[in-house]
Order: sequence, then structure tokens, then C-alpha cells
Amino acid sequence: MLTLIEQLGIGTADLAAAFLFLYGLHRMSSPVTAPSGIFVAGIGMAVAVLASFLYAFGVGTAARSNLPVNIGLAVVALGLGGGAAWWSGRKVAMTAMPQMVAIYNGMGGGAAGAIAAVELFGIKAQGKTELIVTLLGALIGAVSLSGSLIAWAKLDGVINKPFRVKGQQAFNALVMLATVAVGAYIVVASADKAVLVLAMPTTIYLFFGCALALGILMTLPIGGADMPVVISIFNAFTGLAVGLEGYVLQNPALMIAGMVVGAAGMLLTLLMAKAMNRSVSNVVFTNFGEVAKHKQGKIKGSLKPMQPGDAGIAMRYAASVIIVPGYGLAVSQGQGKLFEFVKLLQAGGVLVKFAIHPVAGRMPGQMDVLLAEAGVPYDLIVQLEDINDQFASTDVALVIGANDVVNPAARTDKSSAIYGMPILNADQAKKVFVIKRGEGKGYAGIVNALFYADNCDMVYGDAQTVLIKMIEAVRGLNLPAVA
Ligand code: TAP
Repeated sequence: MLTLIEQLGIGTADLAAAFLFLYGLHRMSSPVTAPSGIFVAGIGMAVAVLASFLYAFGVGTAARSNLPVNIGLAVVALGLGGGAAWWSGRKVAMTAMPQMVAIYNGMGGGAAGAIAAVELFGIKAQGKTELIVTLLGALIGAVSLSGSLIAWAKLDGVINKPFRVKGQQAFNALVMLATVAVGAYIVVASADKAVLVLAMPTTIYLFFGCALALGILMTLPIGGADMPVVISIFNAFTGLAVGLEGYVLQNPALMIAGMVVGAAGMLLTLLMAKAMNRSVSNVVFTNFGEVAKHKQGKIKGSLKPMQPGDAGIAMRYAASVIIVPGYGLAVSQGQGKLFEFVKLLQAGGVLVKFAIHPVAGRMPGQMDVLLAEAGVPYDLIVQLEDINDQFASTDVALVIGANDVVNPAARTDKSSAIYGMPILNADQAKKVFVIKRGEGKGYAGIVNALFYADNCDMVYGDAQTVLIKMIEAVRGLNLPAVA
């Protein structure tokens, strides 16, 4: 048993950790304060981890002999996990961040599932409510683990096609029912005899097997543009699972951290669903496992190549330019050169703004982070709903490595995977320049009719290389700066 002083120590540490999580999250609400917010939340995590060692004082005499080994194992696990995270965090390329987030998210779900497994296989008796909460956390955590791993494989290109078979949704529903049924059996069978859970390891294995299979089956068929919603749903799942297991362990820091992640993930899901113009229930209950068969009609017009220098000079003489960054900008790491080019345009009196689509790139907020990294002032960055009306009165829309987020098929083609998703109205600008390397499709795998439109010219090449050529061309004009 813990003494009062030890309990007070743990309580204070948990409270401090919870406060640091919430304060860190609050600071993450603005790009200016976000880096310090991440630091503060990191300190909160360190406090929570250190506080968990205080529980060692409360270990019963029977288990005391195992304590040195267990603490040693925990320290080794912390060293290995922390070391790997530190190394991969420093090394990861900006474009690989979404995969990394998916992996970490899966690990969170897996950790919650592992806590549940320890509780279920543990010798200690469980009350009915605790058992149900443990099983719920196990289910959600396991789904999040296997689903996030599939999401990682998709984002990393290891799996590059949605896997679908006929009747998949019905089969998924059956697996879901089977998982719930096995869980219900465990609860019912162990209701009277509190330790019976221990006597049915096979049933518990079956429960975890079904839950892991469910996560895989749910995520495999998802393709095209649905990934943002999937990623944020698994994010919410992981938080929820951690919060539930926190309740089982009666650990306030775990409960608060889990609920904060769960709530933030749910809000993100709502935002992503709004960005895709879908209701969350539609995404969760209808679109998992279902992607419309897409038949694309013949596209009118032709692709018209243009030299980078010519496009750069044309923009220098324009009155207004809206820049649409997309995934390709992150790939090329051209954000620094982009801002250099923008400053040249501004020096010539051109009004420049950046238009951000909520699902541009491969991670929520990726474009904001990319532009912030280059030092672009926040007042130049405008979100979709606030800028879309301005394209029609703008001289040039410069689309850089973006494709799906400016694809007019989302407005007109009912069979398209992105039909109904709000897009940036780049096509309505007087002139459109598109920087991309060739005829590569976007994430949703659809040809973009915008590129063939009369008002659109294609500037082929890696975004950073093209931007360097544009800068050289504009500098070569030797025009004086406009006051
Ligand atoms: P995409 O539609 O993926 O298009 C990116 C384009 O960039 C490609 O067509 C590619 O064409 C070009 N590109 C690639 N590397 C380049 C480089 N080095 N230089 C120049 N261009 C390059 O991007 P988007 O418009 O940002 O749309 C995002 C898509 O990803 C949406 O479908 C969204 O649903 C999905 N998604 C988003 C998220 C989140 S949360 N943001 C997560 C998962 C999936 P070339 O090969 O011809 O160069």
C-alpha cells in the first residue's frame, strides 16, 4: 500500500502532468506558440512517466522481489523507445511525417491494448464495470493499432492500391459482431466468478485476434482521398482507448491525456469530414470499405507546357497572385525558394496570398507548417473558405505540387472519389500556372481537367528547381522595387 505522502506525491505529479498537457495543447492552437506548446506537453509526458515509477512503492510484499527486474525492464524499454523516437524524430523527412504520425498513433493504441491484455490475463479480480471498460479499451486500442499500421503502409506507398472484394462491408460487419460477441461472452462468463477471465486465455486471444483483424479489414479498402478522415479517426480511437485504460488503472494522468487526445482527434475528424464534405456517420458507417467505381470521361483541351522563366516574369507583371501549395511542394522542399520568389513579387507591388486546403499534403496542417518553416508571415496564409471567392478576381493562381485539392471533378463528376469535396477555385483565376514534374496523378488517382483548361499552362519540373529558375528570370529583369 502507498503511504499518504506517496499518494500525495503521485497525485501532485499527475495533476502537474495533466496541467502541462492542457497548457501545451492550448499553446499549439497558434503556429506562433506551437513549438513551445509541444515542448511543454513533452515535459508533462516526462513528469507522468517519472510519476509512474512512484507506484513501485505500493507494490505488495509478495511481488517485491520482482521489483528490481521490472524496474530494470521499464528503464531499458524507456531507453530503447525514447532513443528510437529521438533518432527517428530528428531524421524523418517532412514528407514522411504522416507515416510517422500513423506509426506513433498505432503504438499508442497498441500500448492501450497491451495494458488491457495485462489486466485481462492478470490474476487480480475485476468488477463487471472494470471488465467492460477494459474490453472496450482493448477493442478500440487493437483496432487503432492494426488500422494505423495499414494507414502507415498506405501513406508510405508499401500498399498502393485499395484492397476490395465483393461483400467486404457485410464481412466487416460480421467480424465486428463476432468481436463484440466474444467480448460479451467474456463479461457474462466471468460475471459470477471474478477470476474466471484467467481461465479462458483462448477466448481472450480470440477477442484480440478479431479486434486486430477488424482494424485491418476496415482500413484496407480505403483509398483515394479518404485517408485524412481515417487518420484522424484512429487518432481519436487511440486517445479513447488510453483514457479507458487510465480509468481501469485509476491513473488520472492517463485518463486526462487519453481524453484530451480522444477529444482533439474527434474534433480533427469533424474538421476533416467537413473538409471532405461528408458527415462523420457517413464516413464511419457507409464509406469505410466503399469507394465509388470511377469512370472518367474524355477530358477536353490539351496540356500546354510553359518555361519557368516565362511564367515567373508573367507573375512579376501581374497585379495579384494566389499560390496553392500541395504535397509536391513538401516533396521538393521548395518552401524556402517559394518565399524568396514571393518576396520578389511583393517588391514589384504584386499582391500575393497563399490559399490552404485543409487536406492538402498528407497530414492535417502540413502546408501551414511548411510555410511557417520558410518564415511566410501568417497574414499571407488564408484558409479555403476565406479565399475561395477571391480567385475569380485574381490575375494568376500558381498551383505548386497540388492536384486533388484543385480538381474540378469534385464539383461535377458524381462517380469521382473526391465528388463533393470542396476544392480551391484555382480554375476561376484569369490565368493558372501549374508546377509539377509530369503527368503524375494526385493521391486520389484521378486525372485533373484543370490542367487541360484554356486558361492553364503547365510548368514542368521539380517545384524547387522551377522556383529557382523563376527567381533567376525575375531577378534578370533588373526592375526597380516598387515603393
Ligand atoms: P496530390 O493530389 O497528392 O498531388 C500532388 C502532386 O504533386 C502530384 O500530382 C505530383 O505530380 C506533384 N509532385 C510530386 N512531387 C513533386 C515535386 N517534387 N515537384 C513538383 N510536383 C510534384 O496533392 P494535394 O493536392 O496536396 O492533395 C492531397 C491529397 O492527399 C488529397 O487527395 C487528400 O485527400 C490526400 N491525403 C491527405 C491527407 C491529409 S490529412 N492532408 C492525408 C492522406 C491523404 P507529378 O508526379 O506529375 O509531379
